[in-house]
Amino acid sequence: MKAYKIAAIPGDGIGTEVISAGVEVLQALASRDGSFEFKVDQFDWGGEYYKRHGRMMPENGRDLIKKHDAILFGSAGHPEIPDHITLWGLRLAICQPFDQYANVRPTRVLPGITSPLRHVKDKELDWVIVRENSEGEYSGVGGRVHQGSPLEAATDVSMFTRAGVERIIRFAFKLAQARPRKLLTVVTKSNAQRHAMVMWDEIAAEIAREFPDVTWDKMLVDAMTMRMVMKPQSIDTVVATNLHADILSDLAAALAGSLGIAPTANLNPERAFPSMFEPIHGSAFDIMGKGIANPIGTFWSAVMLLEHLGEKPAADRLMTAIEKVTADPRFHTPDLGGTARTTDVTAAVIDAIHGSNR
Ligand code: IPM
Ligand code: MG
Repeated sequence: MKAYKIAAIPGDGIGTEVISAGVEVLQALASRDGSFEFKVDQFDWGGEYYKRHGRMMPENGRDLIKKHDAILFGSAGHPEIPDHITLWGLRLAICQPFDQYANVRPTRVLPGITSPLRHVKDKELDWVIVRENSEGEYSGVGGRVHQGSPLEAATDVSMFTRAGVERIIRFAFKLAQARPRKLLTVVTKSNAQRHAMVMWDEIAAEIAREFPDVTWDKMLVDAMTMRMVMKPQSIDTVVATNLHADILSDLAAALAGSLGIAPTANLNPERAFPSMFEPIHGSAFDIMGKGIANPIGTFWSAVMLLEHLGEKPAADRLMTAIEKVTADPRFHTPDLGGTARTTDVTAAVIDAIHGSNR
């Protein structure tokens, strides 16, 4: 029997609630399938760890997880610790050294969930946003001088390398090619940002020649927000920089009905390092400990984890179970306008897994 080693890092806030639900669901799938099992190691890294140790994860943290087959991550963020410390100390401290350069964010309107777009029908909003996840605006290059004086100055430099842009655009073309519509939109801001964004456009045109069967177009990021709202059916696969795609993916999640259902895969496509799967929603301290966090974003991320491991039947079974459960309003958590609790949704998904013949 295949045994997969999973590193679970619940992190902070509702991260702990949704990751324990996610692990339960993964174990249910393994027992339903019978051909593989999960060995899950828990890591208590995050804000509370920081308060005890002065860092978000141990110095050898990455060594402890680099041999795992995948990482299931909750969220990093703590009301008493500045956001840039929690982000750079944990999530980016894993994503960047593990070269998880392709951040993949699918968006669909799941059955039973209503899009705030009045006219959109289910099948008309079915996107995948590919976010560059290793450089750009998140390079961490910059500095601050003369703090506390009127001369204070600060820079955040967006650094783009040809190698980094080529690999993410090639990844996005391949993904678009594998989807039925074979349609890619390359998003930049190459009118205002006249160096790196112009390089993106040039590289996109070069890579496009490798994929003659993919239809592609270019869009400025501001115009893209409008297109997402006004013509959602004209979009399929999207590739954008780290920051642009960060913003577009929140909009995408809202248009699909809730941030609570949106998943992410941080992929190292070459598999030199483990990839990391996480819900997009963050730590949500306002609802922490209330038992009402929507675990669907984590379950959908688990679907992506299973696909990455090559367990396609189990991935399909979980996605079918998720859709069966979202279709029933009794299992909607408050973010979807319902009264269900995290445990209700989890139990319903596990029931659907055991009841399914797929
Ligand atoms: C995301 C989040 C993070 C990001 C935050 C929590 C720093 O918004 O995954 O989209 O900006 O990368
Ligand atoms: Mg974001």
